[in-house]
Amino acid sequence: MLRWLGNALSSSIGKKILMALTGLFLVVFLAEHILGNLTLYKDADGTAFNDYKHTLESFGPLLKVAEIGLFAVFAAHIVLALKLALENREARKQKYAVRAHRGKATAASLSMLITGSLVLVYLFKHVVIDFRFNSAYHEAPAATVKETLSKPSNATFYVLAMAILGLHLAHGFRSAFQSIGASHPKLDPLLEIAGTAVAVLFAVGFATFPIYFLFFWTGGAS
Ligand code: HEM
Repeated sequence: MLRWLGNALSSSIGKKILMALTGLFLVVFLAEHILGNLTLYKDADGTAFNDYKHTLESFGPLLKVAEIGLFAVFAAHIVLALKLALENREARKQKYAVRAHRGKATAASLSMLITGSLVLVYLFKHVVIDFRFNSAYHEAPAATVKETLSKPSNATFYVLAMAILGLHLAHGFRSAFQSIGASHPKLDPLLEIAGTAVAVLFAVGFATFPIYFLFFWTGGAS
C-alpha cells in the first residue's frame, strides 16, 4: 500500500489520480454534511439538529479519527494541487505541450487554483471562526448556526462562497473522472452534465441555509 502510494506520488498521472480520488471523497463528505444540516429545517427549536450533533459526538474517539482523516484528505488534495501546478509550470517552460492545447489547460487549472484557494478562505471562517472551534457553537449548536447565518454580512459571505464552490465542483467533478481514465466520446457529455448537476445541487443546496435564516427565521432555537 505504502509502496503503491510512493509510486503514485512520484508520477504526474499518479498525483492526478490521487487528486481525483481525494476530490471525489470530499464530494461524499459534502453529501453527508448537507444531509446532516437538513435537520436544521426539521423543527423551529433546533432539537433535531442538536440531537444530530449529539449522535455524532456519541461516536467518541471514532469521530476524532474521522475528523483527522477528513483533515488529511483536505490537506492531501491541496498539496497535490500545488505540486501539479508547479510541475505544469515547469513543463510549459520546456514547451512540452502543444500550443493550441496549452491555453485551455492553463485557464482551467488557474481557475481551479483560484476557486480552490477561495474555498479554503471560506473553510477557515466556517470551521475556525463560526462553528467547529467556536465555544458558543458547542454550548448552543442550532441557535449559533441560525444566528450566524441570519446576519446579512455572514449570509452574503456564505452565498458567495457557495457560488465559488459550485464553480470549483463543476470543473473538478468532470476532470476527476478524466484523471481516473473514465473518458469516452459517449461518456464525456454525460460527465459534463453530471458535473454541472452536482455543482448546482451542492451550491444551491448549501446556499438555501443562509438565505432561509436571513429572510425567514424569526428566532427561537436553543
Ligand atoms: C451553508 C451551509 C453549511 C452549514 C449550515 C454548515 C454547518 C456546519 C457546522 C454546524 C459545522 C460544525 C460541525 C461540528 O463540529 O459539530 C460544520 C463543520 C464543517 N463544515 Fe460546514 N456547513 C455548511 C457548508 C459547508 C461547506 C460548503 C463545506 C465545504 C466546502 C463545509 C465544510 C465543513 C468542514 C470541513 C467542517 C469541519 C468538520 C469537522 O467538524 O470535522 N461546510 N459545518
